[in-house]
Amino acid sequence: MIHLPKAAYTSEEWFKQEQATLFEKNWQFAGLVEDLPEPGDFITVQAGRYSLIVLKGPDGQLRAFHNMCRHRGTQLLRTCGKAGKAITCPYHDWSYSLEGDLIAVPQQKTEFPDLDKKSLGLHKAQVDIWLGMIWVHPMPDAEPLKQWLQGVDNYIGPHRPEALVEYPEAATDHEIHANWKLIAENYIDGYHLAHLHSATLNMYDHQKQKTGFIGPHFTFYEPLQDDYAKNLKDKSPLPPIDHFTDDQPVGAYVPMLFPNLGIAATEDSWSVFHVIPLAPNRTRVITRTRIKAVSDWAYLWQTGKSYSQQSTWSGKYKEGIGSDDPMMSGDFMAEDIYVCEQQQKSLESPLFSVGATARHQEKSIRDFQNIILQQMNASG
Ligand SMILES: [Fe+2]
Repeated sequence: MIHLPKAAYTSEEWFKQEQATLFEKNWQFAGLVEDLPEPGDFITVQAGRYSLIVLKGPDGQLRAFHNMCRHRGTQLLRTCGKAGKAITCPYHDWSYSLEGDLIAVPQQKTEFPDLDKKSLGLHKAQVDIWLGMIWVHPMPDAEPLKQWLQGVDNYIGPHRPEALVEYPEAATDHEIHANWKLIAENYIDGYHLAHLHSATLNMYDHQKQKTGFIGPHFTFYEPLQDDYAKNLKDKSPLPPIDHFTDDQPVGAYVPMLFPNLGIAATEDSWSVFHVIPLAPNRTRVITRTRIKAVSDWAYLWQTGKSYSQQSTWSGKYKEGIGSDDPMMSGDFMAEDIYVCEQQQKSLESPLFSVGATARHQEKSIRDFQNIILQQMNASG
């Protein structure tokens, strides 16, 4: 496209290489801390070729293991749930403690008289918590999360996500017909904000956007439009977050932690945008949002206001194609999905090419592609 060939967005070979490099060598987002409230609770997460378990132990500690029985390699746990007192493989009932030690092997005395159970504990992975998020790494000897994130803390926004509450009605889960990089590139593209989203993100001053990279991680900040900022309480559809101090400017902090976790920390919400590659041309995107805790009446009042604002919304096009046209939805995410899917379709055309990229507002895309190439080359 710019630095990356077209095959990077379409071929199975590229997809596999990315899984074995980018998604295994970088820390991966696994969920929010509230996903594991009680001892025994677990979630599973894919990190490149590795399936991992994150589990809260009886001592309240989070631990991460590879989700693979040491006997014949069968997957131990599915999606999420409660492990009980032990993790038992469905195949031959080999059991592991919540600390990952092999504790029971059926018919051990007769079938495995020489088995050294100590050497067959679950393979360990790393887990850590940052800003109310759970992060995992498949390699126990990889650099610690804090080191991987070094310097990014200063660009992540003044929000205290742990002081906010999850707003489940705002969560989204989409399967998108586009390569994951088109979605990541769209996320860090500052040029389209004033154009594709001219009617949906017009509360921000896009010309004042500040972008950069800290290591491989993208950083982005733009302030609210003056008029919106002055009348924030009336204009904002959700209750404005009020735990910022005066020296912390309100606006949109929208970093992307390499390669696939976007954060959007704004005047009234804090969200994660998790980009999960499924196939060269298929990607799942899950968003979860935290907002200021409010009493019911205040919340309902705010919701009513946002609906009435939408009724006067004027779309990108004068006429939509059908009643569910994403370009008439008034939803910036629907607009983004639409353009990413259209771009993926165009990749099939033999005439496809990128004619030029914006010097400032699309620099991030060139940088992102360079980082991908560097990391993949470094892994051979
Ligand atoms: Fe967008």
